[in-house]
Amino acid sequence: MKTVTLNNEVKMPIIGLGTFLSSAGDAYKAVRWALKLGYRHIDCASIYGNQNEVGQAIQDAIKEDNIKREDLFITSKLWNDSHKIEDVKPAFEQTLKELKLDYLDLYLIHWPVAQKKGTQMPTSDDDWLSLEEVPLWETYSEMEKLYEQGLSKAIGVSNFNKEHLSKLISKTQIMPAVNQVECHPLLNQKELIDYCSKNNIAITAYSPLGAQYSHGSLLTNPRIVEIAGKNNATPAQVLLAWQISRGVIVIPKSVHEDRIKENFASLALSLDNDDIKKIDEMNEDRRFITGEAFINKNKGYNYIF
Ligand SMILES: NC(=O)c1ccc[n+]([C@@H]2O[C@H](COP(=O)([O-])OP(=O)(O)OC[C@H]3O[C@@H](n4cnc5c(N)ncnc54)[C@H](OP(=O)(O)O)[C@@H]3O)[C@@H](O)[C@H]2O)c1
Repeated sequence: MKTVTLNNEVKMPIIGLGTFLSSAGDAYKAVRWALKLGYRHIDCASIYGNQNEVGQAIQDAIKEDNIKREDLFITSKLWNDSHKIEDVKPAFEQTLKELKLDYLDLYLIHWPVAQKKGTQMPTSDDDWLSLEEVPLWETYSEMEKLYEQGLSKAIGVSNFNKEHLSKLISKTQIMPAVNQVECHPLLNQKELIDYCSKNNIAITAYSPLGAQYSHGSLLTNPRIVEIAGKNNATPAQVLLAWQISRGVIVIPKSVHEDRIKENFASLALSLDNDDIKKIDEMNEDRRFITGEAFINKNKGYNYIF
């Protein structure tokens, strides 16, 4: 399995299975298939509401498919309603319980925004906490303790821009190992990747196929389809192989066995420089996940990205 070595020497498989919007039953089957097919990395989050089933699938794979826990790389994320110092460890423990694990490989702050306890998605000003009330560095400092206790082998962030990162780095001890952000040819994140690479922060690309809301627009993009044809590959494999070629970790989501297999096979696809250049030129700084739900000017959240 090709891996990326994180800034603390932990090795992270460069491809993992995404689980956002996978229904409970689908998530169970998808994780079982993925682990049988050779995936060793699963991307989870408390807010996805399916960690129990993902955890069951992991346990069953360990028991029935002879897979060792130490060979797996399991990521989860702290939801925005648990950023207060006293809420971080209980939220982490709840995630461990749901996943039926005694440690995580990577724990991320899901979004750089804080909400009141119990708020899944904010709908009114009352649902928010400002970053003055609950600074991101305080939340992260609690995650540093989880790391120091060996409860998570690495810690990091998600949806952080350069400003979020530089403020965080200036106030905390442990450099985030990973920043998980939306990334695909229409949003190649070159500047953020350069910044992260200078600070030894690995990038995980979420929505590497162009997200679930985009109705397959990247998968039918003529340039991607043409490169796929030239390489006897599928558009999804081209999108993933391009990221892998530049050392970006990918976590494509699927609940279909054939697609999970197809996506994994992108590891064997090597694009030539001409193909890579053509894909590099596609950037439009276009987001499918705009993060608009996390903007609230009354609470000081004037922008998200
Ligand atoms: N940190 C964050 O804020 C954040 C935000 C979004 C996502 N994520 C993570 O990133 C993962 C991936 O992102 P995503 O779920 O937004 O989108 P994605 O992986 O880019 O795309 C998933 C969509 O593509 C379809 N698909 C998968 N493989 C395919 C293939 N080979 N051919 C054609 N269609 C295919 C899936 O359908 P089927 O399932 O029906 O096959 C699904 O509709 C998530 O699951 C989650 O773990 C994190």
